[in-house]
Amino acid sequence: MSVTSVAGNGRITVPDIQNRKQHPAPNSSSAPFRQTPDKKRITCLTAYDFPSAKLVDEAGVDIILVGDSLGMVVLGYENTVPVTMEDMLHHTRAVRRGVKHALLVADMPYGSYHTGAGVALTNALRLVKEGGAEAVKLEGGERRLEVISRMVEAEIPVMGHIGLTPQSVNALGGFRVQGRTADTAEQLLRDARAVEAAGAFSIVLESVPRELAAAITRELRIPTIGIGAGPDCDGQVLVYHDLVGLTAGPTPRFARHYAELGAEVRRAVREYCEDVQAGTFPSDAESFHLPAVAEKQAKHGK
Ligand code: KIV
Repeated sequence: MSVTSVAGNGRITVPDIQNRKQHPAPNSSSAPFRQTPDKKRITCLTAYDFPSAKLVDEAGVDIILVGDSLGMVVLGYENTVPVTMEDMLHHTRAVRRGVKHALLVADMPYGSYHTGAGVALTNALRLVKEGGAEAVKLEGGERRLEVISRMVEAEIPVMGHIGLTPQSVNALGGFRVQGRTADTAEQLLRDARAVEAAGAFSIVLESVPRELAAAITRELRIPTIGIGAGPDCDGQVLVYHDLVGLTAGPTPRFARHYAELGAEVRRAVREYCEDVQAGTFPSDAESFHLPAVAEKQAKHGK
């Protein structure tokens, strides 16, 4: 498929992301991707609220994902299983208001696409129509073929997600690297092919060996976006709170901290408490005055 962005307003579109594929399949029978000199890797970060969405968007990230990781990161659940459609809609709407440039993708929460393609489609439509998402993401490979195709038929762009799929935590028995044996790697390759065949425009590869992610990236015509999948994917995604050092507790090995805002926030709050207790906050300059007093102070240059 050869597609060109027609948005023309600085917004990143699904075709723009498709066109960022680094390694077109050499034996692809369909038309080759449009080659541009500027095939930069895709950047993707999560955001769950208006201020972080605004910051991430202004910094120039390509895709903002309202991940269901919000269940763990900002709602304090142990895993993503309890996250509801109402949670996702609430946070997607807030993020929508902060995003002007990036492509906005919303996660389909556990249970919202597992009971039939009709229900899945209704829920995906809600994320687009009520939440303002431009695409949805869902977890799983071969067994999601029908659900993904139905969404694509209904003009909803879908991002796949295979490897460590956190919504399967109970079935997987924990958060572990996937695809380390020949059989499981082969299954992941089949899953990736199925997601592409169903019409997804991109696919997240989470916590898989670098070599497997590279092989999937070479084989697929859609871009791969890695998290804990090594540097050979077409793009990378991280959780914003991990990147800026705001996550409570330990983070996975791939979650590089580019800032330590947690420590900075604790320092600022401690200083505020000390100032309040010492009576040095607020100062006179941070106070309002009666008009007569303000006038007198202005006259004396205070
Ligand atoms: O929920 C999420 O944030 C995700 C990304 C980590 C890929 O699925």
